[in-house]
Amino acid sequence: MIEVSRLTRRFPGSERPALENVSFRINEGECVVVSGANGSGKSVLMSLIAGLDRPSSGQVFLGDGIGSSPRVGLVFQDADSQILGDTPLEDAAYGPGNLGLSRNEARRTAREALERVGLRDKELHPARALSGGEKRRLAVAGILAMDARIIVFDEPYANLDWPGVLQVNDIVRDLKKRGKTLLILTHELEKVLALSDRLMVLFRGSLVFDGTPAQALSEAPLEGWGIRNPLGSYKTVEDLHWTSPEGAAP
Ligand SMILES: Nc1ncnc2c1ncn2[C@@H]1O[C@H](COP(=O)(O)OP(=O)(O)OP(=O)(O)O)[C@@H](O)[C@H]1O
Ligand SMILES: [Mg+2]
Repeated sequence: MIEVSRLTRRFPGSERPALENVSFRINEGECVVVSGANGSGKSVLMSLIAGLDRPSSGQVFLGDGIGSSPRVGLVFQDADSQILGDTPLEDAAYGPGNLGLSRNEARRTAREALERVGLRDKELHPARALSGGEKRRLAVAGILAMDARIIVFDEPYANLDWPGVLQVNDIVRDLKKRGKTLLILTHELEKVLALSDRLMVLFRGSLVFDGTPAQALSEAPLEGWGIRNPLGSYKTVEDLHWTSPEGAAP
């Protein structure tokens, strides 16, 4: 469904490539988490997969090689930048309208999508006034209305409170059930690992791990790659450490 082969992206003026010689295959219906510290190359990878940017070398193949490429839907970290319509209904109807559906058909499709992300009751509210979590759900509705088969979430948990995280995960679970191919880019493993089939880790632009969540937790030096191990447990206030050991800032 997604095949990435020896993908490298250099930006002018940077010594190190943002992405270097990255190869992997993702099958239809897989739910894959791509993790890595800030600047490790996650968003660059997303732009290349979605065709928003071109690699310096290497290739991205989408689909099964037969027929046209499947549509890739992106949920951006900054949900605000993704809203085009004045109301959720108008916003979610935008994509289907562009695909050539009549106004009525586009609205019907948009309403179904809004229903699935729990925004039907706000379909006529001002879209700009939605909360951060609601805006992210609206972005998902737009993608559902376009019937994308591949959906990429860039930092879907950023700025969300706990109920917001649960809502995103309910949507992820629903999309998995529908057989969508999901790519979730995040460094917040504790929120998503139980839902994923596979974890890939980027470190300074290179793919350093590709395996199951269980393998990642038992074998991978996650903290050396700047990712917090989600199995840390808290029992007392003293356990609530988010400081590095003396002299060992990562
Ligand atoms: N348009 C660009 N021009 C120059 N450098 C860029 C550009 N886009 C990304 N980079 C660089 O590529 C590297 C990877 O960036 P990327 O945005 O993919 O990181 P990320 O893993 O998504 O980080 P974060 O967790 O902060 O979102 C960074 O060093 C970044 O500065
Ligand atoms: Mg990013």
